[in-house]
Amino acid sequence: MQIFLDSAEPGLIAEHARTGLVDGVTTNPSLVAKAGGDFFEGLKAICAAVDGPVSAEVVAIDAATMVSEGKKLRAIADNIVVKLPLTFDGLKACAELADEGHPANVTLCFSVNQALLAAKAGAAFVSPFIGRLDDRGEDGLGLIQRIRQVYDEYGVETRILAASIRSLEHIEGSALAGADCATIPPNLFDAMVRHELTDKGLEAFLADWKASGREGL
Ligand code: E4P
Repeated sequence: MQIFLDSAEPGLIAEHARTGLVDGVTTNPSLVAKAGGDFFEGLKAICAAVDGPVSAEVVAIDAATMVSEGKKLRAIADNIVVKLPLTFDGLKACAELADEGHPANVTLCFSVNQALLAAKAGAAFVSPFIGRLDDRGEDGLGLIQRIRQVYDEYGVETRILAASIRSLEHIEGSALAGADCATIPPNLFDAMVRHELTDKGLEAFLADWKASGREGL
């Protein structure tokens, strides 16, 4: 499963990209508003920092304007993916952009039916929102599983990008459910590497090494 960062903060993204473990980035208007700064300059910096798809979202709600906003976003860098909402206009814009070779990430997906439509519109990615489903007592990870099953059944190439991830369990669960990628807030990405037994184990190995009178290699 590929790991994307769910953030619009260029500095934070560049710092995490230096681990060599970040496969892409997703932004949305809320994350951009939180990050502040110039929208286009920020995206340019993110695209330069990460060698992989960077989703940038349109803010129009009609298909024609979504297409022209999408093209504006695509002019920022080759690795921009146009993020479009899962509405009939968003799907229409997706099909039009895909026909012209512009990849799209259809976002705000909450059902298998919506995922089927995104695939039909030629989306490169579909983003099911796990956390927001869980928030209202539904099964977010179950949705990933069901979309995987249907996409596999029909040989759909649209990639499942698990989004709205709130916990380490969501990350593991997405991988187990067969998501192609998961977009993860930077603080959870940091938490992925940590385990108290790793820390304890390392401490003991180094203490034993030192106690034997040895130094570095
Ligand atoms: C990513 O594409 C989404 O915009 C993001 O994961 C939404 O997460 P949230 O539900 O925590 O806002």
